[in-house]
Amino acid sequence: MLQDQITQYTQEINAFSTENAEELEQFRIRFLGTKGIIKDIFDEFKAVSPEEKRTLGKVLNEFKQLAEAKYLSLKANEPVTGDQKTAGMDLTLPGNGIELGARHPLALVRREIVDIFNKLGFIVAEGPEIEDDWHNFSALNFPEEHPARDMQDTFFIRKGGESGDIALRTHTSSVQVRMMEAGKPPFRALMPGRVYRNEAISARAHCFFHQVEGLYVDENVSFADLKQTLFYFVQELYGEGTKVRFRPSYFPFTEPSAEMDISCTICKGAGCQLCKYSGWVEILGCGMVDPNVLENCGIDSKKYSGFAFGMGIERIANLKFEIRDLRLFSENDARFLKQFKTSLI
Ligand code: DAH
Repeated sequence: MLQDQITQYTQEINAFSTENAEELEQFRIRFLGTKGIIKDIFDEFKAVSPEEKRTLGKVLNEFKQLAEAKYLSLKANEPVTGDQKTAGMDLTLPGNGIELGARHPLALVRREIVDIFNKLGFIVAEGPEIEDDWHNFSALNFPEEHPARDMQDTFFIRKGGESGDIALRTHTSSVQVRMMEAGKPPFRALMPGRVYRNEAISARAHCFFHQVEGLYVDENVSFADLKQTLFYFVQELYGEGTKVRFRPSYFPFTEPSAEMDISCTICKGAGCQLCKYSGWVEILGCGMVDPNVLENCGIDSKKYSGFAFGMGIERIANLKFEIRDLRLFSENDARFLKQFKTSLI
């Protein structure tokens, strides 16, 4: 009996479920295909008596709709199939991690230096990289004929003329002048920045590099304050027990002037290539701010005194990370730069 068959197939359709594309296709062929069950039943239906047709016709149509609806709803929920892009992928696996960038080693070292002096109450000040003769040289007590003004060292942007030379600053000491001109003592500041010198590029020299300048001006500032401040800085940066020594030196803007060495961070004073077997490496220049400089900046040198120091960030970084070629800092080779990811943060 047709009615019995339909009842049986209806149960089968209602019970059917799959998430498998192949099984669903078999379902479609079995019930809805051109040689499928529904087609057969419709063929048989043609042979039934006219009375039966009236009742069976409706049942048959409902049965067909049921099969179609079942097929469409399973098709809509069907998971991604083999021929689509994600074939063979395990979508439950975690995604690819995002690779974090790294801070530039010079930025890490600059931050560390700034952090140490912040603890002593030094603020950070900045100035322009394109400077006039006054701020880079004259106010800092450089004599007219000083060799540092020579074309060999300085990148001049405009030479001479009524309003004087304009150049790329050769040191961050120019920021001292700007700071003192603009304010009133006390000054306690750190001045990091890029500087330029007309030098051939090699492993040991570059036409630009970075410095940190320090300035402390107040009443009764002494050379003892300078020594103690720099001693503290070195202990913080290179660890307790690092030795310091001061050698007399000359800078136009300080009097007296000194250069400060630390015991070699690599061989701890025993002697190695880096310290040229002396046990000591120079890390900065310093001194008491020359009274002429104070006066040039409008500060009463009878009332105020101060100390200043300047260091190259590359040099500090070289000692910290044992980098032997200055060029690495500016070549942007990510393989080099990312090595310093975790070292200081
Ligand atoms: N300006 C000097 C240089 O570029 C470094 C320096 C030395 C800065 C002594 C100072 C200082 O403030 O007191 O070589």
